[in-house]
Formats: sequence, C-alpha cells, structure tokens
Amino acid sequence: MTDIRRLTAADAAAFHALRLEAMAAEPESFGTDILEERTRPLDRVAATLAATAVFGGFVDGEGLCAMAGFARHEPLRERHKGRVWSMYVRDSVRGRGLGGRLLDAVIAHAGDEVDVLQLIVVSTNAPAVALYESRGFQRWGLEPFALRVAEGRYTTDAYYWLPLSRGPL
Ligand SMILES: CC(C)(COP(=O)(O)OP(=O)(O)OC[C@H]1O[C@@H](n2cnc3c(N)ncnc32)[C@H](O)[C@@H]1OP(=O)(O)O)[C@@H](O)C(=O)NCCC(=O)NCCS
Repeated sequence: MTDIRRLTAADAAAFHALRLEAMAAEPESFGTDILEERTRPLDRVAATLAATAVFGGFVDGEGLCAMAGFARHEPLRERHKGRVWSMYVRDSVRGRGLGGRLLDAVIAHAGDEVDVLQLIVVSTNAPAVALYESRGFQRWGLEPFALRVAEGRYTTDAYYWLPLSRGPL
C-alpha cells in the first residue's frame, strides 16, 4: 500500500535521508553533489520544504521512499514558471506507478501556481525521460557539458517544458 502526501518541515530528517540515498544511488541523475547535500543543515532542509512543494511516497513498512518537488521561480518576471526537482523512487519500489503518481501530484499543484512547468534531465536517463514524456513534457533544448560527474566526464542535459492549462499558451 502506498500513500502520497505533501511533506512538511516535520519530514525534514526523512527527506534529507532520502536525498542522500538518491545521490549515493544515482549520482549522475542529480545536479547537487552528495558532498554539498551532506553538509546541509536540517533547518535549511526544513526551510526548503516550507518554501517549495515536495510530495512524498510512503510504502507500508518502508516509510518515505519516493519524492518529487515543485519550486516556483522567484524573479518577478519569471513567476509564471516553475520547475520539477528532486524526483526519485527507491529502486526496490520502482515500476509500480509511484513516480508517475508523484509527478501527477506536482503537475496538479503547479497548475494552480504557474503557466509553465520545466525540468532538466540527463539525456541518457531513459526511464526518467520516458516518465516525463508520458506526461506530455516536450524537449526544447540540450546542454552539452552540463554537469561534471567525474574527472573528464560530463552529462548532456535535456531541457523539458509542459504548458499548463491555466496559462494563455
Ligand atoms: C525515473 C523514476 C522516478 C521512475 O519511477 P517509477 O516509480 O519506477 O515510475 P513509474 O512506475 O511510475 O512509471 C511511470 C512511467 O515512467 C516510464 N518508466 C519508468 N521506468 C521505466 C524504465 N525502466 N524504462 C522505460 N520507461 C520507464 C514509463 O513511461 C512509465 O509509464 P508506464 O508504466 O505506463 O510504462 C525512477 O526510475 C528513478 O527514481 N530513477 C532514478 C532517479 C532519477 O533518474 N530521477 C530523475 C532525475 S531528473
């Protein structure tokens, strides 16, 4: 049985632990390096949870094991846009629809706040690309040499956007 709900500041420790798990398991899928995440104080994690909208997936007996976040852009002229961040499902519970349900929760939430939802994904990440395209995200660009994931090794990142019904697009 899985439950999806929006995380609050009270979930900061579990969320931070899942972020560290995600970055250890999938270091090339995240823009943040685990070394930076490890030193992030819990009060800052809690503040991020309060300032953004992160949805968590809870599996019976395992607790929090999946997440997907929405963050609205802050500059005044970019407040019509937001982005998906921190998308992750623990390997043992993948392929059961959890990632799709979390992304749907982010899209529904974003629809009340912004006109355009954006995300960045490493272009070779086939499961994530398939997930995003299944929800209608369209690729508009590619960034070569986006992340340096090891000495001499870089990702090529794909930029996606999804127009939302609330806007004029
Ligand atoms: C990408 C990820 C979140 C998918 O989570 P999930 O719970 O397994 O996904 P779901 O079971 O909800 O699948 C939803 C859709 O995603 C796509 N998908 C998921 N896994 C896939 C795979 N291994 N191969 C191809 N497509 C896949 C399919 O389109 C699927 O739709 P379908 O079930 O109708 O075929 C998960 O694989 C993950 O956490 N990966 C590592 C972290 C990561 O890459 N995050 C994204 C960073 S941008």
